[in-house]
Amino acid sequence: MTIKVGDKLPDATFNTMSPEGPKPMTTADVFGGKKVVLFAVPGAFTPTCHNTHLPGFIQMAGDMKSKGIDTIACVSVNDVFVLNAWAKQTGAEGKIVFLADGSADFTKKIGLEFDLTARGLGVRSRRYSMVVENGVVKSLNLEEGATVDKSSAATVCGML
Ligand code: BEZ
Repeated sequence: MTIKVGDKLPDATFNTMSPEGPKPMTTADVFGGKKVVLFAVPGAFTPTCHNTHLPGFIQMAGDMKSKGIDTIACVSVNDVFVLNAWAKQTGAEGKIVFLADGSADFTKKIGLEFDLTARGLGVRSRRYSMVVENGVVKSLNLEEGATVDKSSAATVCGML
């Protein structure tokens, strides 16, 4: 079943990169007691994610924080090393927390997986953004097509 506004995010564990190396972070660690903008991309370095979706969140991170957001997080069905390389290359490091959902456990639990096996990409996440308060989904902006529209940083920032 697809997650909806008012639902609590399920328990899941992501991988994040720390100075000591890969470090697990649970949904409780990321969302507990915090107001979080979460956005999901089908893949690090893929054209629309790299050129359009992520850059908007990098540019608007300061605006979101000034509107009361504690954390801006990006989840993707990629391994933590790829996400870390993406964070470094794009200048997102320190602004956005990257959550590697390598086996799509979280993404499947919230019903937002997207099967790109036929294109050689395996199971990925649909593109969306959410505002999450203390683990509860307050808004969900899910893309239906291939563009970045509803889930963009500008749209979510305008809702804060
Ligand atoms: C993208 O352009 O972001 C994209 C391309 C192919 C698959 C998934 C995402």
